[in-house]
Amino acid sequence: MIYGVRIRLRAPERSDIPKFVQWINDPEVLVGLQQVLPFSSVDEENWFDSMISRPMAEHILVIEYSLGDKWIPIGSMGFHNIDWRIRQAEIGIMIGEKLYWNKGFGSEAMELMIAHGFKTLNFNRIALEVYETNPRAIHVYEKLGFVHEGRKRQGMYKDGKYIDVLMMSILRSEWEGRDIRTGVEHE
Ligand SMILES: CC(C)(COP(=O)(O)OP(=O)(O)OC[C@H]1O[C@@H](n2cnc3c(N)ncnc32)[C@H](O)[C@@H]1OP(=O)(O)O)[C@@H](O)C(=O)NCCC(=O)NCCS
Repeated sequence: MIYGVRIRLRAPERSDIPKFVQWINDPEVLVGLQQVLPFSSVDEENWFDSMISRPMAEHILVIEYSLGDKWIPIGSMGFHNIDWRIRQAEIGIMIGEKLYWNKGFGSEAMELMIAHGFKTLNFNRIALEVYETNPRAIHVYEKLGFVHEGRKRQGMYKDGKYIDVLMMSILRSEWEGRDIRTGVEHE
């Protein structure tokens, strides 16, 4: 487990699949994601099998929120396209439980995962792509120190419109030099 202040990141289990199906079929959650078609339990099981057969560093992690003595799953996140020679990876996140949006969980989860990427996996660069139509996510990434590095013009088509895809990244040196408060302490 990777523990933060209010959340933890844990390995996914097959029993999480119904939650994943619920989240990935929610139109409001999908606004910020690549997925556009309805996703069945079978699709999710196939996706789970292929994800779990990848190297462990590319497995997604389940984001859980601590409520009393219970842990409530609220989303998932992970690294993909890891390049071990260049020591870089891409990161993705989904808080699937909309009730938990705008409560700081996404920021805390991103911060935990970035620290995991730099301190445990020894990455030098963590990158991501975000749609111009997702101001909440852009705000979180900017707050955590991600730098805008490009724009894929009309790189996505959603809801009858072409939208731009923003490319952002954070380098280890930038992460070490930041002065922000996210509630997650680093030694
Ligand atoms: C994007 C996402 C990860 C953010 O997580 P979250 O827990 O909702 O975010 P947080 O509560 O940590 O932070 C939200 C911040 O955005 C700000 N915000 C909210 N709506 C905003 C808007 N329309 N414009 C600008 N900022 C906005 C909040 O004020 C808050 O800022 P603060 O931390 O400075 O107070 C989450 O909403 C999510 O998973 N959405 C669906 C899937 C998705 O879009 N994933 C990202 C794909 S790139």
